[in-house]
Amino acid sequence: MTVVDQIKERVDIVELVSQYVPLRKVGRNYQGLCPFHIEKTPSFVVFPDSQSWHCFGACGTGGDVLSFVMRRENLTFPEALQRLAQRAGISLRPPSEREAAADRAKQLVLEINEAAAAYFHRLLLESSEGERARAYLARRGISQQTIQAFQLGYALDDWHATEQHLTSRGYQAADLVAAGLLIERDTGGNYDRFRGRLIFPIRDMRGRVIGFGGRVLDDSLPKYLNSPQTVVFDKSSLLYGIDLARDAIREQGLAIIVEGYMDVLMAHQYGLKNVVASLGTALTAEHLSVLKRLTKRIALALDADAAGDKGTLRGLETAQQVMDSHVIPIPTWKGLVQYETQLDAELRIITLPPGKDPDEVIREDRVAWERLVQEALPVVAYYFRAMTADLDLQSPKGKAEAVNRLQPVIAAIGNPAERAHYIQELARLVKVDERTLAATIHKTERPRATSPARKEGRFSGFPGLNLGVEKYLLFLLMHRPSLLHTTDSVLARLALEPLQRADFGPPEYQEIFALLATRTTDESFSIADMQAYTESSEGDLYREWQEFQAHIAMLPEPNLPIDASRCAILLRKLRLEERLVELRYLSEDAQRDGDAEATTRWMSLITHCIQQRARLDDALSKLTLLGYRQREAPVPP
Ligand code: UTP
Ligand code: MN
Repeated sequence: MTVVDQIKERVDIVELVSQYVPLRKVGRNYQGLCPFHIEKTPSFVVFPDSQSWHCFGACGTGGDVLSFVMRRENLTFPEALQRLAQRAGISLRPPSEREAAADRAKQLVLEINEAAAAYFHRLLLESSEGERARAYLARRGISQQTIQAFQLGYALDDWHATEQHLTSRGYQAADLVAAGLLIERDTGGNYDRFRGRLIFPIRDMRGRVIGFGGRVLDDSLPKYLNSPQTVVFDKSSLLYGIDLARDAIREQGLAIIVEGYMDVLMAHQYGLKNVVASLGTALTAEHLSVLKRLTKRIALALDADAAGDKGTLRGLETAQQVMDSHVIPIPTWKGLVQYETQLDAELRIITLPPGKDPDEVIREDRVAWERLVQEALPVVAYYFRAMTADLDLQSPKGKAEAVNRLQPVIAAIGNPAERAHYIQELARLVKVDERTLAATIHKTERPRATSPARKEGRFSGFPGLNLGVEKYLLFLLMHRPSLLHTTDSVLARLALEPLQRADFGPPEYQEIFALLATRTTDESFSIADMQAYTESSEGDLYREWQEFQAHIAMLPEPNLPIDASRCAILLRKLRLEERLVELRYLSEDAQRDGDAEATTRWMSLITHCIQQRARLDDALSKLTLLGYRQREAPVPP
């Protein structure tokens, strides 16, 4: 029996969930208000028989004990496993010596950081030298409450003060170097990294101090100094303020990304708590996937000039390169449009008034800021405007140039329906016939990979492994991550939603899927990628993955997208069947209780599921046709 099975056997889901949500017993099951979104009528149901939960309301998600804890406590799969194993009194496979050592090193750095944050904070509040920093913060309008909430600090203008303080507390200089607080001299000896600076402790989602930023109090350079890369500090994925913002982001269903520390402080001070910053690095897919755990809707506040409202396509790309050391949290348009597709997120751009930071806008006029947020444009619409702002769209030359600049943007849009929409938009913008335009744009799209030598082979190529649809699909995608996009476009042609996390049941599959969705390369999953999900849980998954890889070589390549799409639809159907069983119980219970309102609610959901199922059946038969056509001849665009 795997650890996951043992946990499920010993941790009762009703008991676990009740610690977070008041539940009421109805028939055999328990109902309550969904802890993951705001609602008035309880649509959150816990099923003791299957030890699962499901929200039949707005969020429409569900799962088992593990996925509940992951979502509720913002834990990764291995973390949730650890937590529940502990609760159930199950000892996980003891970590290897190397893992244990790495873990100790991380814990030590976290502990040192915590001690340093407390030390800097006290200096800011109490030291006489700290008066400079206190005055500075007052001048910038930062309240006492904000200073406390973010545990702001001050580092003395001294080469060894931090070192002395922390070594007197028993920490070794070498460990302080590892934590990034001391810098080693080539000639031997160390000195403090942060001197005479205002200190911003940077925390992770769980509130642990992973690093620091330090701002000068005058105009000297560099303005900000940050911790170097350490075992716990990875600049490419950190978001300042995430620990304080996470609940608000989830509740409001929107995350706002700004550029800097000060912007986050001011936003939170004014009660705008769903704001985080991507400290001075370009926004990466990792940043977005961290937020994606909380919400699909993400808005990016861009400086009017940085975003290049005057910007040509080239302007945007070079601006990025030239200013790499400084701060443009925008990747190129290409990056953003691709992230959006990859992550199945909804990205919007908030345009700031020229020369103003969110910090200033919010402080001057909170309502104006809220208006800017309201007016945020979808990323593609934004680039439509930004990239044509300098053109005369009445002149033939201007029109040609607009088409020229925007067609690669359109071609990068993953979702065909959305792409069609923007072709229409472009046609309207330049007043050119839509079909003429569509023809030009299709030509610039990357040619589809069509295999000239069509191999013989079964259309539905399940290899000689008995994996089941769910695992087979997961493995296909792990084998070739780019298949996800192809599959999504096949699904879109069948008017179905792209694949998503919730299509998979087991939380570890969902995690692997989430990882897949952020992949930027097409490399097959490696052992390292798998490790977090296998060693700690199903050792079997890894073995099966290897067998699968041996088999996959025998599959005829061009069938993979059709195969994957078919699995996706079957899987979705499976999920619907599960829902239907649950809903039938729920409506029976409601009927027995004589609760007419609830009965109607459950019945209408049943009808909805049945309609969905019919749509899926329909799609399956169309897919079969599509599959044969694809094998006979390439499908015309
Ligand atoms: P800004 O220059 O916009 O700073 O850089 P800011 O946050 O608005 O601070 P104030 O208002 O001038 O005090 C935005 C972010 O870029 C990173 C920091 O994270 C900063 O918050 N940055 C900037 C650096 O890491 N190093 C720098 O030298 C400058
Ligand atoms: Mn600023």
